[in-house]
Amino acid sequence: MPDIAKLQIGENVYEFPLVKGTENEVGIDIKTLRSTTNGVITIDPGFKNTGSCESAITFLDGEKGILRYRGFAIEELAEKASFLEVAYALIFGELPTKEQLEKFHTDIKSKSVVDDDVRKILEAFPKSAHPMGILSSLTSALTAFNPSSVNVDSEEEMYNAIVKILGKFPVLVAWTMRKKSGLPLNYGSKSSGYVENVMKMMFEEPNEEYIINPIIKDALDKLLILHADHEQNCSTSTVRIAGSSHAGLFASLSAGISALWGPLHGGANQAVLEMLEAIKADGGDTKKYMAKAKDKNDPFRLMGFGHRVYKNFDPRATIIKKAADEVLKDLGVEDPILEIARGLEQEALNDPYFVDRKLYPNVDFYSGIIYRAMGIPVEMFTVMFALGRLPGWIAQWKEMRLNKEPIGRPRQIYTGENLRPFQSIEKR
Ligand code: SDX
Repeated sequence: MPDIAKLQIGENVYEFPLVKGTENEVGIDIKTLRSTTNGVITIDPGFKNTGSCESAITFLDGEKGILRYRGFAIEELAEKASFLEVAYALIFGELPTKEQLEKFHTDIKSKSVVDDDVRKILEAFPKSAHPMGILSSLTSALTAFNPSSVNVDSEEEMYNAIVKILGKFPVLVAWTMRKKSGLPLNYGSKSSGYVENVMKMMFEEPNEEYIINPIIKDALDKLLILHADHEQNCSTSTVRIAGSSHAGLFASLSAGISALWGPLHGGANQAVLEMLEAIKADGGDTKKYMAKAKDKNDPFRLMGFGHRVYKNFDPRATIIKKAADEVLKDLGVEDPILEIARGLEQEALNDPYFVDRKLYPNVDFYSGIIYRAMGIPVEMFTVMFALGRLPGWIAQWKEMRLNKEPIGRPRQIYTGENLRPFQSIEKR
């Protein structure tokens, strides 16, 4: 592979250096494109062919269905690690020692109390408010109770901001759920593990001891790991670009939560369940919905299918599909929705429209089936995605700031009116 790319525009030939990553990915460094070509830029809606940064956090290969966090295969992490270990590795680059993990968890627990005034903000929301809107607002509100700008050059300040949000975010997640269920807000207990405490805070009833179901705890740990990072996806890119203006960590995360909410992104897990429920209510007529998904005049898309990067299979979907089988069997839950999902998957995997476009089940197709079996309401599914993605967002924001990346500010090609004189209102 040569180390330069040549671009010819008219009679002129321009040369640009090639950047090669540790997994042999190659990018054309066009940092000098506009200045050397007298104003020519590239244009790439959705950034399908454009890299925004060099990153050492997550590697994925969409053709081969590979996903690794800090070089560790997702299959191994899902099987052998805890969510907190994975969070540590994503943020600090290495899997923690026993002592490092214990200190990390202790520090997180020490910062997990949320200022009680945040409850007043929560109480001001109507019960009908979507949990993602509440979560984004409360996360941004945390800035009011904690210094908004983090001095990233101070390792101690950066660490404190990280353990603060890892401690408080699960409380906000649980509070958004309990707001809708009418249960009193709680904190769980410092003697619990990180994921166990999330479960206690979400499900504990005020008048009975909450017993952790190990099946649900293991499944939730695995789901959070599988959602923990995914390189430069829509919400992570939002966190990075918000942070590139030196907005604070909590404000940047709040922006990422809003981006994740969209049904084309993290909101898909809720949309998948609603779609499967609609198919069930429609007598299980999957063929009708397949036809709708293929009809260009119908805005309906088969939710949970397709991916910007995975053009083969989403390795997370493979793991989650297996976990869905195991969890429902272990819990003794018969969910007809799972059968409909399997039927839909089989039809799509054999339908030329989906095969030609390389549309396969993604991370969101089966995850909602497990969340529902755990007793998590469908409106909370994307909140669970955000809980899992939090360490990835933190790691990416930290990397962007420590690399002193410039403020994100894309260019455009103007296609509007040319110069024209102002017309007074009498003459319009
Ligand atoms: C996540 O980027 C990440 O990493 C995201 C994520 C993460 O971990 O952060 O993996 C999480 O967001 C997973 C994706 C969840 N979204 C959904 O399940 C929503 C349904 N899927 C789609 O809307 C779509 O597949 C996207 C948004 C996921 C990807 O869209 P692209 O890459 O922009 O592809 P496209 O819209 O250009 O579609 C290419 C073709 C089009 O048809 P043609 O114009 O070529 O005829 O495929 C069609 C699309 O109409 N198509 C679908 C489809 N997805 C794409 N047709 C029907 N159903 C679908 N789901």
